[in-house]
Amino acid sequence: MDEENFEDVERKIKRYNQGHLLDYYNNIQDENVKMKFENQLENIDFELIDSLYKKTTLPIKDENVDIEPIDYWDKERLGGKYDFYEGIGVEAIKAGKLAAVTMAGGQGTRLGHKGPKGTFDIGLDSHKSLFELLCDSLKESGRKYGVEIPWFIMTSEENNEQTKEFFRKNKFFGYEKNVHFFVQGQLPMVDTEGKILIGENGLIKEAADGHGGVYESLVKSKMVDKMKELGVEWVFIGGVDNCLVKMVDPVLMGLAIYKNVTGAGKSVVKANPHEKVGAFCKKNGRPNVIEYSEITDEMAEAKDAAGELLYGESHILCNLFRIDAIERMGSNPLPYHSAFKKATYIDKEGNKIVPDSPNAYKFEAFLFDAFGDLDDMVILRVKREEEFAPVKNAEGVDSPETARTLYNNLHKHIEIK
Ligand code: UTP
Repeated sequence: MDEENFEDVERKIKRYNQGHLLDYYNNIQDENVKMKFENQLENIDFELIDSLYKKTTLPIKDENVDIEPIDYWDKERLGGKYDFYEGIGVEAIKAGKLAAVTMAGGQGTRLGHKGPKGTFDIGLDSHKSLFELLCDSLKESGRKYGVEIPWFIMTSEENNEQTKEFFRKNKFFGYEKNVHFFVQGQLPMVDTEGKILIGENGLIKEAADGHGGVYESLVKSKMVDKMKELGVEWVFIGGVDNCLVKMVDPVLMGLAIYKNVTGAGKSVVKANPHEKVGAFCKKNGRPNVIEYSEITDEMAEAKDAAGELLYGESHILCNLFRIDAIERMGSNPLPYHSAFKKATYIDKEGNKIVPDSPNAYKFEAFLFDAFGDLDDMVILRVKREEEFAPVKNAEGVDSPETARTLYNNLHKHIEIK
């Protein structure tokens, strides 16, 4: 950075009370680390971090939001229309119009696995990792429709190298020419006083900016351009931790194409009205997701004339977008939510501090906050036991054990069929 730029950055740092970063920077001996630190200083939006920190102490209350149920289709009850939608989807898939994105930039703190979550072995007889299970399903769909579906994998700065190394070691599961990696954005973490933390590696402590960062990263990394070169028109975006994720679904795609919408999402019906999951809804007339923490008991329990929950369609991070919608969503900034987390850091005296309770704020964008940019969205209810087996916790609900059972049950079922 030239002198003038540096002075500019210095002014900003002081204006936003982050002077400790300059003190730290001035004492860095290792030239390589110093250069990286300088680069971080240049790229951090100090004003944004300051405003996000200030919001952490404010109650999150969205006034003037009109929440309504959203229409959905049940895949089981499409009747004669099933084949019709499927036909439209199959034609588009065969024409190479679909790409899959897997979001694998998360930290997987609840699971506690050392290494990227996608490298986790859920304990199947085959000992395949989540990445391999996902790749298997893409390859199988590709064979079925006579195409090779390009696979875009979002990593984070924290796990990018390890993820790529894992793919190299496993020879990309035989899918190398279709795999494209891109790295999501990150934001600094701050302590309870709003001071940006220094991490163990001597650099500013930054954390992935949430799954909502996927749109912007797809645009910035030029993956959207690559998709267009490949003739892609529709993009499925899902998480890495659902071992039953069905990335290639002609019914979902056909429905979206026929209904002329730019986004579609799959839901599973809530296990009970108070299940701790977000549910699809409309906010101020636009598609959205209402979180379990936002919903009143009365709304959670409300039913329609047929006895179905009005807010019963859980959002399971399985969504499909037209590529122009991704470009639009990737250009509009999303709000950031704060999460209070445990973060190891280096204090002023240079000591490494390993906290045993949360001590720092992390800022994350949520994927569904962008749904409001879409005029409308098609929601397709699918069967939980066929498409949703998340691996979130080390034990208990949504654990390797529950995912393994669901996976084995489904595959046993498929064999018998
Ligand atoms: P989760 O919200 O479950 O987070 O992510 P996580 O990182 O896997 O687990 P915890 O909360 O730390 O225990 C849902 C999906 O979104 C991806 C995850 O990799 C997972 O596939 N994700 C999440 C990202 O790609 N980037 C992020 O910044 C956050």
